[in-house]
Amino acid sequence: MRITMIGSGYVGLVSGACFSDFGHDVICVDKDASKIEALHAGRMPIYEPGLDQLVETNVKAGRLTFTTDLAVAVAGADAVFIAVGTPSRRGDGHADLTYVFEATKEIAAAVTGPTVVVTKSTVPVGTGDKVEEILREERPDVDVAVVSNPEFLREGAAIGDFKRPDRIVIGTDDERARAVMRDVYRPLYLNESPILFVGRRTSELIKYAANAFLATKITFINEIADLCEAVGANVQDVSRGIGLDNRIGKKFLHAGPGYGGSCFPKDTLALLKTAEDFGTPTRIVEAVVQVNDHRKRAMGRKIIKALDDDAKGKTVAVLGLTFKPNTDDMRDAPSLAIVQSLLDAGATVRAYDPEGMDAAKAMMPDVTYCTGAYEAATGADAVAIVTEWDTFRALDLKRLAEVMKGKVMVDLRNVYRADDVAKAGFAYSSVGR
Ligand code: UDX
Repeated sequence: MRITMIGSGYVGLVSGACFSDFGHDVICVDKDASKIEALHAGRMPIYEPGLDQLVETNVKAGRLTFTTDLAVAVAGADAVFIAVGTPSRRGDGHADLTYVFEATKEIAAAVTGPTVVVTKSTVPVGTGDKVEEILREERPDVDVAVVSNPEFLREGAAIGDFKRPDRIVIGTDDERARAVMRDVYRPLYLNESPILFVGRRTSELIKYAANAFLATKITFINEIADLCEAVGANVQDVSRGIGLDNRIGKKFLHAGPGYGGSCFPKDTLALLKTAEDFGTPTRIVEAVVQVNDHRKRAMGRKIIKALDDDAKGKTVAVLGLTFKPNTDDMRDAPSLAIVQSLLDAGATVRAYDPEGMDAAKAMMPDVTYCTGAYEAATGADAVAIVTEWDTFRALDLKRLAEVMKGKVMVDLRNVYRADDVAKAGFAYSSVGR
């Protein structure tokens, strides 16, 4: 099969590399020449564990290539995936589909024969209809089917998620397109990953509903964590206690500083905007968005509270800045709101993150960036664990206490046991325990 991936960002690159690893012939396209140049030189534009080796192997095998020339890549492709960004539109929170429609028009100009166009980008319900409309208008001479095929990749675990998915969702009523998509995913469903054929609008909604449900689960346990703190219960035990019920499930019940990243904040917002537009508001999702926004700021206040409600002139060491470990992604990271509230309260912030500091420096110039956890903690009044990178899980607490001025630890990811931290002389607070 010949697969063309339009957009070599996170989703496009991971999907393209994985498809080529299954033996398909894949061309990844991007407008950004510097990105394509970097990929030619073997440099990854994003940090994702295992991606560099996967790309290297498949480039060497001649199955994976990169180009800025969309027209050449599209001509003769069996399937053309649109994997461009759909950021939140400034002002109203709707998904911005500019890049999707631009790509569609360029595909229309370039197709040479029967092609299946697949939206991999997360797009609001009805986008597939519009993409189809554009293609039919511009190229009434060519047989083009439009399919929705959302991704469910977690950053940091994207390759595993792609190769061993819980399910593959394909939205189309077109028989020929189904057959092409079956061939595209054959290596996966031979591995027994369920493949779900549904209508295109249903498929588009499945993606939003999945992310909104997961965001709801996290937000629910975060509120229960606050209640645990108030009544003297332990949220980790509550999570276990409810999660062992198969109807609830164990995953996504870790209380923390609120969800962030490139998907949940943008997708929850886009879903509730769509729902409003159709006159069927999703009140639960509205509440989730509000509670989560509020929570990020509340976590800054929690750290200030641990400093006896006075952060003025004090120094806080922030460990972890990315929205979660194993990524360099700073988009909507809780650290952004947390650091801002510390700075607003007059504190000095010293921070360390294993992968996110380049992006963080541009977003938070008023922070002192350090080369490691102990350096960040040196002279600090408090240390806050904001992202649960493995490297923060087994800190030498004695050494940490020695380099710090104060002995306060705020563990927003519940990485430590209260006893261990107390033994090292720290005043310790965590989430929901
Ligand atoms: C998510 C979805 O999981 C994925 O299927 C979708 O395609 C893209 O969005 P991702 O954003 O990479 O993936 O990260 P994920 O691991 O889902 O975490 C999202 C956020 O929720 C992070 O900020 C994380 O720290 C937080 N989270 C997750 C919790 O606070 N508690 C949990 O139990 C799980």
